[in-house]
Amino acid sequence: MSKELSVAVVGATGAVGREMLKTLHDRKFPAASMRVFASARSAGSEVPFGDENLTVEELKEDVFAGIDIAVFSAGGAASLKFSPCAAHAGCVVVDNSAAWRMDGRCPLVVPEVNPQHLEKHQGIIANPNCSTIQMVVALKPVHDAAKIKRIVVSTYQAVSGTGQKGIEELERQVRDLFNGRDPENKVYPHRIAFNVLPHIDVFLENDYTKEEMKMVNETVKIFADPSVKVTATCARVPVFYGHSESVNVQTEKKITAKEARLLLSRAPGVFVYDNPRENMYPLPAAHAGEDPVFVGRIREDESVENGLNMWIVADNVRKGAALNAVQIAEELLRRDLVRVPDRNAFTP
Ligand code: A2P
Repeated sequence: MSKELSVAVVGATGAVGREMLKTLHDRKFPAASMRVFASARSAGSEVPFGDENLTVEELKEDVFAGIDIAVFSAGGAASLKFSPCAAHAGCVVVDNSAAWRMDGRCPLVVPEVNPQHLEKHQGIIANPNCSTIQMVVALKPVHDAAKIKRIVVSTYQAVSGTGQKGIEELERQVRDLFNGRDPENKVYPHRIAFNVLPHIDVFLENDYTKEEMKMVNETVKIFADPSVKVTATCARVPVFYGHSESVNVQTEKKITAKEARLLLSRAPGVFVYDNPRENMYPLPAAHAGEDPVFVGRIREDESVENGLNMWIVADNVRKGAALNAVQIAEELLRRDLVRVPDRNAFTP
């Protein structure tokens, strides 16, 4: 990676935006300059970038001239409005929101799984949903070896997935409860402290939540394989960082637990942590702040033919968001794809 780029982080004051800056710095992304944007509310405030502090600028339509690549984590509405402005100005966008994920013009990429999809990008690349990312990293080697027919997934998702406000809600409610005060629900419809909410994002016509349908639709798009059937139940749990998933797959070919363990131990981005006799299995509290997707509790499903169960944990703010976005930027650079082929592909 020889080229030095002009880089921007949009949504830099948020939980994921801050992690993006840290990841870009820690991985020595070749940035000749780094600019940081958020809403007018935060303009003039500072965010850390290595030992430096960067001054936050207000995001506006015309800020992208001269910027080569921008990683966005400012929510769907801001992304819908500003990503086309960036692409139109010749700035490649890697966007963490759900706004562009199912748009046919936008590749949806997990670098360990489908980096080749970047080749046809038109200026906006989507970073998948956090729960989808960690699941497909772990399931890709199984799919390649034994062809997955069906996935049944249940998630246990951390409050940081809701951003800074989710983290603050859990903190505040725990403090209120310990101090004998009635906790207020500002972010979630019910108390999250010492509770489990089977409800992430909004409910849809089919009674699934949007988060659950993201897992269904994004998995098919990333695998580029509509024959893979997915059903998901997503729950929010009182954990600050790290999503956990119970995943059951049925494959066309038989794959034993031992074979799966071996396969996964060689897979990029995966760390197998699976020794139940020693109480060793992935835990969100143990792996927060780490890069890999951790897989344990690998065992054959004895109730069906060719079934496999596993427990998958990853830091949702890192691999589930910031790290994956930065890895996409690195892959774009490696493939010499940090350019917008047609500035009119998206109209601001
Ligand atoms: P701000 O801090 O100024 O509100 P989180 O997901 O942790 O809540 O963070 C969301 C990030 O997206 C924050 O940096 C927030 O900035 C930014 N953001 C939200 N809406 C906009 C917008 N319309 N324009 C620019 N930045 C936005």
